[in-house]
Amino acid sequence: MAKPRKPSSAVANPGAANPIVDPLPLPDERRLDASLRPRSFSEYVGQRAVVEKLRVYVAAARKRNEALDHCLFSGPPGLGKTSLAHIIATELGVGLHVTSGPAIEKKGDLAGFLTNLAPGDVLFIDEIHRLSAAAEEYLYPAMEDLVLDIALDSGPHGRTIRIDVPPFTLIGATTRTGLLTSPLRDRFQIQERLDFYETDELGLILRRSASLLGIELDPRGAEEIARRARGTPRIANRLLRRLRDFAEVEADGCITRELADRSLLKLEIDALGLDPMDRKILKTILDKFGGGPVGIETIAASIGEERDTLEDVYEPFLLQMGFLQRTPRGRVATARAYQHFKIKIPSNKTDQGELW
Ligand SMILES: Nc1ncnc2c1ncn2[C@@H]1O[C@H](COP(=O)(O)OP(=O)(O)OP(=O)(O)O)[C@@H](O)[C@H]1O
Ligand SMILES: [Mg+2]
Repeated sequence: MAKPRKPSSAVANPGAANPIVDPLPLPDERRLDASLRPRSFSEYVGQRAVVEKLRVYVAAARKRNEALDHCLFSGPPGLGKTSLAHIIATELGVGLHVTSGPAIEKKGDLAGFLTNLAPGDVLFIDEIHRLSAAAEEYLYPAMEDLVLDIALDSGPHGRTIRIDVPPFTLIGATTRTGLLTSPLRDRFQIQERLDFYETDELGLILRRSASLLGIELDPRGAEEIARRARGTPRIANRLLRRLRDFAEVEADGCITRELADRSLLKLEIDALGLDPMDRKILKTILDKFGGGPVGIETIAASIGEERDTLEDVYEPFLLQMGFLQRTPRGRVATARAYQHFKIKIPSNKTDQGELW
């Protein structure tokens, strides 16, 4: 089955409209991610329902001295999927082996990982929806029966040998479960979706990051950043670093609410956290397509952005904020979008009850 296309790179495009709010890591940001990463369930803020369940599963696996069931984490970029994988391995007290879908080119790459596992270890595959079909099929017997079939010679009469792999936990991360083939998805016994964070949760994350990085952050400054960080910890942490520059150059070093507001506007992040690309998407739907419904492909072509980036990165936030609706006929701007841009709602929309 053909897989949907994905953005070709897993890091933000530095030439993008406004990389400051791109939830994908910017070049060089992986180190910052690692240094601010929560190390235990208790340091992991938010996603309470998910964490509560994972704590139980991890404790049960430890008690029985078994490998944890395979886990699949999904959700928009920067919400803490990789962090969770690290925490689970730490809390299980096992080794963590990290790779990603695009990094596994040959079946042999996967065999290398699987045969190097110690019993109970975690194998983390990021961007698992980008695994090749061949690698996927190779994974199935390993996930289910803890065996690998290794081809000794190629061709129709090639011999294979079967080798055992130790009990292990596969943790897969993906931005959208819909991009996974169903046979792969079905082999994860634990499937959890991460949601955008609440403002107070992001506030806590910001205060922790500020103290780790030695940044002076006023509680109301933290709240202002949190409100405008697209519900995403990676963006909150990035804004914190940018605002530190403004605080040091234009003020006495402390990030206050006033400084946060002023600097975020300079970064073109509006009062609700919308960035230039969010605004461009909404304005395109409103101005060029009469508020919709309009297909995602058409929107993508008209703003010169990849469809997958729109669906993975921008759309979830606009849906969550209530600016956009998905309908069977396409995307529709909501009444809230009209109001935000101070555009009068066309009377035919209100008459026909078409608007959300
Ligand atoms: N629950 C959390 N508590 C505290 N900090 C968090 C949390 N989730 C994420 N972060 C912060 O956000 C950064 C990005 O998180 P992480 O790399 O785990 O996201 P991700 O979902 O794997 O993103 P991607 O989809 O791009 O791989 C982390 O380094 C950490 O600083
Ligand atoms: Mg990640």
